[in-house]
Amino acid sequence: MLELVVLISGAGSNLRALLDATLDAEYPARVVAIGADRDAEGLQLGEDYSIPTFTVPFSRFDSRAEWGRELAAQIRPWTPDLLVLSGLMRLLPPAVVSEFGPAIINTHPAYLPEFPGAHGVRDALAAGVTETGASVIKVDDGVDSGPILAQERVPVLPGDSASTLHDRIKPVERRLLIQTILDIANGTTDLKGTPSA
Ligand code: GAR
Repeated sequence: MLELVVLISGAGSNLRALLDATLDAEYPARVVAIGADRDAEGLQLGEDYSIPTFTVPFSRFDSRAEWGRELAAQIRPWTPDLLVLSGLMRLLPPAVVSEFGPAIINTHPAYLPEFPGAHGVRDALAAGVTETGASVIKVDDGVDSGPILAQERVPVLPGDSASTLHDRIKPVERRLLIQTILDIANGTTDLKGTPSA
């Protein structure tokens, strides 16, 4: 059974889907803690699913490295098998990546390496592409630059706003995230063997 710590910044809708998947006794992973870099709406899921939460507010630290040190200190006691970034809108400092890597994955609402960064949906729309996508990657020190573990195309439809497009991408992200964690648990995906980008 893989023990997961999941980090979020927002509503946590993808996390909710993952939590629902873990309610199935056959699913080989459990969320042991939920962490956030701010007072994220999704922290409520901790109460809803009886899972401990912690918050390490980025705004209270003088540097990303100091924030990362406290974040690592909060994650460490949970000894996660896998750290899942599910809408964490911050780059993890290298020290955190090296402590918990290579067992760190991230979901992204675009077909990487297209449209990395904090505005993957908006940037795809602004570029006028006819299709974008969703990706799950292994996290390295870069911005959405790690090896791709799973990805799928999602069409951009005429009249799409960032919100309607994101709403169509998210169900794909959820499916890919849940399947990727299953693949890691059963050894189909080997994070140690996945080459660095
Ligand atoms: C998801 O679409 C996730 O891929 C994205 O934030 C959303 C979180 O939604 N993350 C990034 O853009 C990271 N670069 P949620 O809080 O409702 O799950």
